[in-house]
Amino acid sequence: MKDQFKKDVEQGLSNFPKSIPSKYFYDKVGDDLFVQIMNMPEYYPTRAEFEIFKDKHQEMISSMAIRPDTFFELIELGAGDGTKTKELLSALLDGGFDFEYLPIDISMSALASLDSDLEQEFPSLQVRKKHGDYFGVLETLKENHHPKVILFLGSNIGNLSDEQSASFIYQIGANLKAGDKLILGVDLIKSEKLVIPAYDDPHGITSAFNLNLLSRINNELGGDFDLSTFEHAPEYTSIEGIARSFLVSLVAQEIPIAGIGKSFKFEKGEKMQTEISRKYNDQILDKILCKTDFKIINKLTDSQGYFADYILNRF
Ligand code: AVI
Repeated sequence: MKDQFKKDVEQGLSNFPKSIPSKYFYDKVGDDLFVQIMNMPEYYPTRAEFEIFKDKHQEMISSMAIRPDTFFELIELGAGDGTKTKELLSALLDGGFDFEYLPIDISMSALASLDSDLEQEFPSLQVRKKHGDYFGVLETLKENHHPKVILFLGSNIGNLSDEQSASFIYQIGANLKAGDKLILGVDLIKSEKLVIPAYDDPHGITSAFNLNLLSRINNELGGDFDLSTFEHAPEYTSIEGIARSFLVSLVAQEIPIAGIGKSFKFEKGEKMQTEISRKYNDQILDKILCKTDFKIINKLTDSQGYFADYILNRF
């Protein structure tokens, strides 16, 4: 992990324009900041998707097209604290469905706390927590013949480019059989007025989340970034439909990173991209899905039309 981090930082800071992959946001500090982001009034995606799970779980279950007496596996990629999924789990248990819930996460502690939480709330639920990377775990589940429903929520797919998303979804499909389902949660394209405050909040939480990347480089790779000389700068236009986060150097400077054994020059005003958050519509998703073995069979949205959970069928 550390070697990969070092490689990615060296490569990203040597390129022009500079960039750092957003997956490195999520150390302990970053995880805590992301929980705070999800609780901010400006960050609408979490609440909008929760509303879909709360109000539309029956329609979601119908689209899954599984008979109550057929055993199936409900597999969640990156389960987090399971707040939304619990609405679906509860409805499936009430409906007498025969299933096992398999949350997959790379964080052992996230899985352990979810597991004990679910045991308290749903003592009759069968949970098989899976620690590891998504595709490693899906590979091990591939051989059994149970129908599968995969959950990939929270618009996490939006942090990938469209090309990367297509290959990610294709790979999920490669581990499934015809008739299996993927429930994909995505943020929908909407006006600047709504999206920009979600990524440029007045509390400074998203800024701290973004700047934490530099703290990580300082702590883990011996970097010498002075965080006060960088500024969080998000951009979004509804025409493009992609929110981009940058860190802008406020001065001309050269930053040594001991662990890499190099220094990196920044011009005054130079922007380094740290994240993309893609927003979707049917056309954009269709374009991605045409490179995969999935077809849209239903689309569930919240009452304001901010967010969608697409139900995709593996053909
Ligand atoms: C995890 N991911 C879907 C979030 C997003 O909206 O792109 C991460 C995030 N970045 C800034 N705020 C939230």
